[in-house]
Amino acid sequence: MVASLLFAIHSSLAALLMFVTVHQSEAIGWSKQPTKPTILVEGINNTDQSLVWEFFLESNETVQNVLLQRKKPGEKNPTTFASRLAGSSFTLLDGTYRKEYGTSLPNTLILRNVTNDEEFIYLIVVNYIKNNVAQPRKSDQVELIVYVPPKITKEPVKQSEVDVGQNLMLSCEADGDPTPKIIWTKDGVPFKQFNSSGSDLHLTNVQRGNVGSYRCTATNAYGSTTSIAVVNINCPSNHCQVQYVGITILSVEWDMAFANNRSVKQEIFKANLSSAISRLYSMPHNAEKQLFKLTVVTFRRRSSTCMAVVQLQFQKDVDDPLKPLRDDISDGYLRMFKVERQLDLNPIPTTSSRPTSSRAESKHIQRRGIVGEIILILLFQLFQLFLPEL
Ligand SMILES: *[C@@H]1O[C@H](CO)[C@@H](O)[C@H](O)[C@H]1NC(C)=O
Ligand SMILES: *[C@@H]1O[C@H](CO)[C@@H](O)[C@H](O)[C@H]1NC(C)=O
Ligand SMILES: *[C@@H]1O[C@H](CO)[C@@H](O)[C@H](O)[C@H]1NC(C)=O
Ligand SMILES: *[C@@H]1O[C@H](CO)[C@@H](O)[C@H](O)[C@H]1NC(C)=O
Ligand SMILES: *[C@@H]1O[C@H](CO)[C@@H](O)[C@H](O)[C@H]1NC(C)=O
Ligand SMILES: *[C@@H]1O[C@H](CO)[C@@H](O)[C@H](O)[C@H]1NC(C)=O
Repeated sequence: MVASLLFAIHSSLAALLMFVTVHQSEAIGWSKQPTKPTILVEGINNTDQSLVWEFFLESNETVQNVLLQRKKPGEKNPTTFASRLAGSSFTLLDGTYRKEYGTSLPNTLILRNVTNDEEFIYLIVVNYIKNNVAQPRKSDQVELIVYVPPKITKEPVKQSEVDVGQNLMLSCEADGDPTPKIIWTKDGVPFKQFNSSGSDLHLTNVQRGNVGSYRCTATNAYGSTTSIAVVNINCPSNHCQVQYVGITILSVEWDMAFANNRSVKQEIFKANLSSAISRLYSMPHNAEKQLFKLTVVTFRRRSSTCMAVVQLQFQKDVDDPLKPLRDDISDGYLRMFKVERQLDLNPIPTTSSRPTSSRAESKHIQRRGIVGEIILILLFQLFQLFLPEL
C-alpha cells in the first residue's frame, strides 16, 4: 500500500521532471528535417540518399557534440554509429559503418545502398551548452522504409508441349514488399476465365483452344514484372500440317526489342506476337482452324522492317488455315503490330533456329559446313608448308 503510494508519487515527479526537461530543451530548433517516414524503393532510389538535418541556436547556446544513432523498429536502445564535436566532421565508429554510410557537414547522413532488411529508425542527438550549463540532449528521429518491387522467384516452365486431354499446372512465385499480387492472363485475356488459385494456373483437359502464351504478372505499388509461358499441343502423328509464314512488321517497337539479342524485351516481343496470333485462332469464329502449335521461329531484320518467321501447326484436314491471319491483317494491323498486308508464304527459316521437323535438311547443311571446314584446314596447312620459304 505504502509502496504503491510512493510509486505513484515517484511517477508523477518523473512526469513533472520530464515536462520540465522537454520544456527547457526547446531553445534549439530544427530548420530542416528528413521526410518522415523516408521511403526508398530498391532498384529505384535506394542508393546515395541523404538524411539532412539542420538546426539553429540562440546566441547563448553552443554545440558540444552531435551523434548519429540507429535502432530497429521496436528496439529500445539505439546504437551510436557516428559522432562529431562542434566544428569538426563526423567519425564513423566502425569499419562496417564506413561501408554503409557517408556523412557531410553540418548534419547529413548519406545512405549508400539500403535494402529491405536494413530498415532502421535513424536518430540525431545534439548535446549543447546554454550559458555554460550543459542542457538535456535535443534529438530527432526518422523511420526509414525500404520497399521492394516484385521479383519473380519461381518462373513457370517456359515451353510446354502436352497431349490433348492432359492437365498442366503452371507455377509462378514472386517476392517483394509489399507482397506482390500475381495474376495470370492468356493472350491478354484476364485470369478470371481460368482456374487460377494464387500463383498456380491449372489447365485441365487441355484442348487446342489452350494453345498460346500465358503471362504471370506480379505487381505491387512499386512495380510489376512478367514471366511468359508458352503452351503448345503435341500433334498426334500424321494428323498435322505445318505452315511457315512470314509476317513483316512495320511498327518500330521491334527495333528496341532487338537492341540486345538476348534481351527480355525480345522475349516479350516474341510473346506479344505469338499472343496476337494465338488469340486470333482461339476466337469462336475460327474454331475450326484451331492451332496445335505456334512457334515464332526467327526474326529477319531489314533496314526498317522486321520479318517474323512463324511456324503454325494445324490439323491435317483444316482448309485454308491461314485465312484468319490473312483476313486479320488486311487492315494493316495484327493487334498492336503494324504489318504489311501481304503474308510471305515461303519464308525459308534460317538453319540455326529451324525447328526439329526439318532435321534432314539441317544435317545436310551441317555436312556442307564440315566439308568447308576441312577445306579450310587443308588450305591452312598448305600455307604453313610454304611459309618458311617466303
Ligand atoms: C523514392 O521513390 C518512391 C517511389 O517513386 C517515392 O515514393 C519516394 O518518395 C522516393 N524517395 C525519395 C527519398 O526520393
Ligand atoms: C539567451 O539568449 C536569448 C536571446 O538570444 C535571450 O532571450 C535569453 O534570455 C537568453 N537566455 C538566458 C538564460 O540568458
Ligand atoms: C546494393 O546492394 C545490393 C546487395 O546488397 C547489390 O546487389 C547492389 O548491386 C548494390 N547496388 C549498388 C548501386 O551498389
Ligand atoms: C481447378 O484446378 C484444381 C487443381 O487441378 C482442380 O482440383 C479443380 O477441380 C479445378 N477447377 C475447375 C473449375 O476446373
Ligand atoms: C544479334 O544476332 C544477329 C545474328 O543472329 C547478329 O547479326 C547481330 O549482330 C546481333 N546483334 C547484337 C546487338 O548482338
Ligand atoms: C508487349 O505488349 C505489351 C502490352 O500487352 C506492351 O506494353 C509492350 O510494350 C509490348 N512489348 C513489346 C516489346 O512489344
